[in-house]
Amino acid sequence: MYFIYMEASELKEKYIEFFKKHNHKEIKNSSLIPENDPTVLFTTAGMHPLVPYLSGQKHLQGKRLVNIQRCIRTGDIDEVGDSVHLTFFEMLGNWSLGDYFKGDAIKYSFEFLTKELKIPAEKLGISVFKGDKDAPRDEESAKIWISLGIPKERVAYLPKKDNWWGPAGITGPCGPDTEMFFWSGEEKPPKKFDPDDKRWIEIWNDVFMQYNKTQEGKYIPLKQKNVDTGMGVERTIAILQGKSTVFET
Ligand code: ALA
Repeated sequence: MYFIYMEASELKEKYIEFFKKHNHKEIKNSSLIPENDPTVLFTTAGMHPLVPYLSGQKHLQGKRLVNIQRCIRTGDIDEVGDSVHLTFFEMLGNWSLGDYFKGDAIKYSFEFLTKELKIPAEKLGISVFKGDKDAPRDEESAKIWISLGIPKERVAYLPKKDNWWGPAGITGPCGPDTEMFFWSGEEKPPKKFDPDDKRWIEIWNDVFMQYNKTQEGKYIPLKQKNVDTGMGVERTIAILQGKSTVFET
């Protein structure tokens, strides 16, 4: 088989070590009950406890952080029962708080997937933000992926409902994202990436958090440009173990 078999513990260790090597500091998992956000019941993402720092407050451990965060997404309950959705899951995340941006974030993701996890680049599909009245089309991310060797046909431009992340609650930091999909089909991956084909499984999301969504629904540029990423432990492990659902891992 092409993949390296891995247990969840090995994946987590590899991820933390990889980002430590790139000067990130490891931070602890936060409580599932959010401390700073009265608009939601549970911690929904790794970035959730970091909202004040994405908004400009200085983090004592610096501008590059990495962690493993337990999350509950009540919003996904209706999706549970397919092969990839869970309400409770663990998320691997690396952050830049006003430090690196699209170039390094995408390079780190690509290197981790293809070199550390040894996922062949031919099995990857990428989506980027299509652009709308609130933010421009993300040609920059598309160019970076293409420069790394991803064919043009494997990059799809999608609207806000697919390629925009946040805020975690009702207001706060958010931005366009670029998502990485793995071809899980038995047959050779198609030349073109079709995000509607369920055999493409989303495993990682790099969010470029540069806006603050206000109560009125306006998107105001943040003081700093941040990166927030999230890789699903259970989905990635399912892939590395050659399992067809997260429940089999
Ligand atoms: N915050 C982003 C997510 O949860 C990375 O997908």
